[in-house]
Amino acid sequence: MSPSPGGEAALRRERVIRAAVREGLTDPDEAVLAAFVDLDGVAALVAALRSAFPASLSVRHTFAAKANSLVPVLEHLRLHGMGCEVASAGELDRATAAGFGPELIVFDSPAKTRAELARALRLGVAVNVDNFQELERVDALLAANPSASPLGVRVNPQVGAGSIEAMSTATDTSKFGIALDDEGNRARLIDAFRERPWLTWLHTHVGSQGIAPELTARGLARTVELADEINSTLGRRQVVGIDIGGGLSVDFDSDDPDPGFDGYVAALRRHAPRLLSGDYRLVTEFGRALLAKNGFMTAFVEYTKTAGGRPVAITHAGAHVATRTVFRPDAWPLRVTAHDPSGRQKRGDVLAQDVAGPCCFAGDLLATARPLPRLAPGDLVAVLDTGAYAFSTPFHYNSLPVPAVYGFSTAADGEVRFRTLRPAGGPD
Ligand SMILES: Cc1ncc(COP(=O)(O)O)c(C=O)c1O
Repeated sequence: MSPSPGGEAALRRERVIRAAVREGLTDPDEAVLAAFVDLDGVAALVAALRSAFPASLSVRHTFAAKANSLVPVLEHLRLHGMGCEVASAGELDRATAAGFGPELIVFDSPAKTRAELARALRLGVAVNVDNFQELERVDALLAANPSASPLGVRVNPQVGAGSIEAMSTATDTSKFGIALDDEGNRARLIDAFRERPWLTWLHTHVGSQGIAPELTARGLARTVELADEINSTLGRRQVVGIDIGGGLSVDFDSDDPDPGFDGYVAALRRHAPRLLSGDYRLVTEFGRALLAKNGFMTAFVEYTKTAGGRPVAITHAGAHVATRTVFRPDAWPLRVTAHDPSGRQKRGDVLAQDVAGPCCFAGDLLATARPLPRLAPGDLVAVLDTGAYAFSTPFHYNSLPVPAVYGFSTAADGEVRFRTLRPAGGPD
């Protein structure tokens, strides 16, 4: 978990942190915690995602808003040609505020209320129905008012878990979608499509971090097989598209920003070639792969002490902005770098130190016994790869304020320019 201090990415990050210090964005009184999003990096990964899929296919790439739901971030993604996947009414509000038209929005959630469904159908956003009961709600709503929404059904191909159970949505007993192999479900699904000519999509999200592309591809192969079966059984081309979800993992132990979209598509080609045949339109819903490595936080080191012989640095980054890491450090380790008060990365001898957050419980640790140059009060720690599911989705423990988020880009002359994406204190 020790980033190479001399690598190109590390030097670039150091330049950004030094510029942020000079501009007062990490002020020890006003901004003990700040977050940064690399806007150029996000644009580069959107381009990598696009170019990974054959240009001959009809693919709508949407961004999973849950990964980073700041409206200016969503807006940035829209301006680079992305659509938006939302999983709650709040995310739908944000997608709309970011300027996404209904044709660019997909609504997924296992718990859509009647009111949320009615709104989605009225707007005409795509909806992936999670279960047979929800399908009956949609029947009733469509009987009252026609809708332009593309409508699909989420299926669980039950191909198993990845390395993090909580991120695995294609287990036998997952709460998501219609379990394909459960008795009677396949026939019931085919009947559902027969009775509802407006059902024209299938959706599968095999899982998120910890799922290998091969497992995702094997799950999607089962979904495309179902699409073929529905169309051949009904004798018409009713299923026109497959929403293949997101879920490409990122390497939290490396400075390589590319999560490997090419390798993902190669896995599809090997395990689910029908998906790339051109017979189906595709939607993708990547989140973490686009944002995680394009964001980091800086936290002020308030105090240092030794406890039981181990040095501990008390910082301002904890469970409120890195919730998964604090509660499941084994599954969600994060890299941390040490910087002096000017933002320069500290190099040289390291010793094992705990990096603690400000929350008032003992387990609020971002790293335990982490080899780092000795930290001192007034230093900064940078918490890397936190652009998704971290500072953008804060946990309100101890009523700690949400940190400001700054987008940055680097001009041709090397100057780093910042813009505020969220002011300190929110709203989230
Ligand atoms: C339906 C759906 N689509 C997309 C995603 C995004 O996953 P990731 O950020 O791993 O790409 C999720 C994550 O929970 C999801 O549930």
